[in-house]
Amino acid sequence: MLGEKITARAHTNIALVKYWGKENEQLIIPANSSLSLTLDEFYTDTSVIFDESLDSDVVTLNDNAVNDEKITKFMDIIRKNAKINTFARIRSINHVPTSAGLASSASAYAALAAAGSKAAGLNLNERDLSRLARRGSGSATRSIFGGFAAWNKGNDDESSYGYSIQNPVKMDINMIAIILDNQPKKISSRKGMKISIETSPYYESWIKQTTEDFQTIKDAIKENDFTNLGKTAELNAMRMHSLTLSSDPSYLYINSDSLEVINMVKELRENGVECYYTMDAGPNVKIICQSDNINAITDKLSDKFTNDQIKVSGPGEGIKYL
Ligand code: PMV
Repeated sequence: MLGEKITARAHTNIALVKYWGKENEQLIIPANSSLSLTLDEFYTDTSVIFDESLDSDVVTLNDNAVNDEKITKFMDIIRKNAKINTFARIRSINHVPTSAGLASSASAYAALAAAGSKAAGLNLNERDLSRLARRGSGSATRSIFGGFAAWNKGNDDESSYGYSIQNPVKMDINMIAIILDNQPKKISSRKGMKISIETSPYYESWIKQTTEDFQTIKDAIKENDFTNLGKTAELNAMRMHSLTLSSDPSYLYINSDSLEVINMVKELRENGVECYYTMDAGPNVKIICQSDNINAITDKLSDKFTNDQIKVSGPGEGIKYL
């Protein structure tokens, strides 16, 4: 029923096999399939209510007014599907450092897709919700699902969707996010992937390799093989970042603090503490580890970083209505 306020919660996800490049920019059809872990610590709560008295969408993020054309365009997709013209009040509370390579857009658009579509009177299943979330941000496709989730590349709007790989997660797996910078990123993922796909001479090899990495990680999940999952996720992340270095113009998300964390992970590993790192379109590093090693890793990190910068997270749930 139009006029009812609907609130949804979506968690972020961190890709173990990264999405980096679009085949279709308008529909956000990716150049490769990707696979992620949804995290319980970082999430977005979004309320939507359609209101006949409005002459534009009214949006707040953490109670500050935002004027973002992307959000209006996204709401237009919902309005078109629901065959309505009414504008909405949208209130979003983000429990993720915004735009710092911690995939805040993933939880934001997954929560907006769920709350917005239901408030508009649509009753979408999870696959269709993921297709809708995809139109806001590619990584949001996977945040509809809890635990291990994937985004099937597909070739068009119908066939490019998210799905669950395993939820609840059987593997003992955690991520420790080290917040090195919570400022919005300088080169958006949208811009970065476009430069990579258009100019990196290694882009074709990336597609071939990442398709293999997808299968390796899928098998590792099935076989509960943490070592193979961690190793492959770390390699896949660095393979993605090598595309940024080999682009014209070349750019880099890794800064000196990120390098320091990477070296700490290597040192921990040499000392028998099994852990791996991954990074997205920002300097923050995420460490993949098992429960027994969390203390050893956070102890080491606290030599250099404050407690506020270190966030430990386990697997999170899929979309839910509050
Ligand atoms: O969907 P976007 O625009 O937030 O891009 C996500 C890009 C990466 O986080 C680097 C990789 C991924 O698959 O999440």
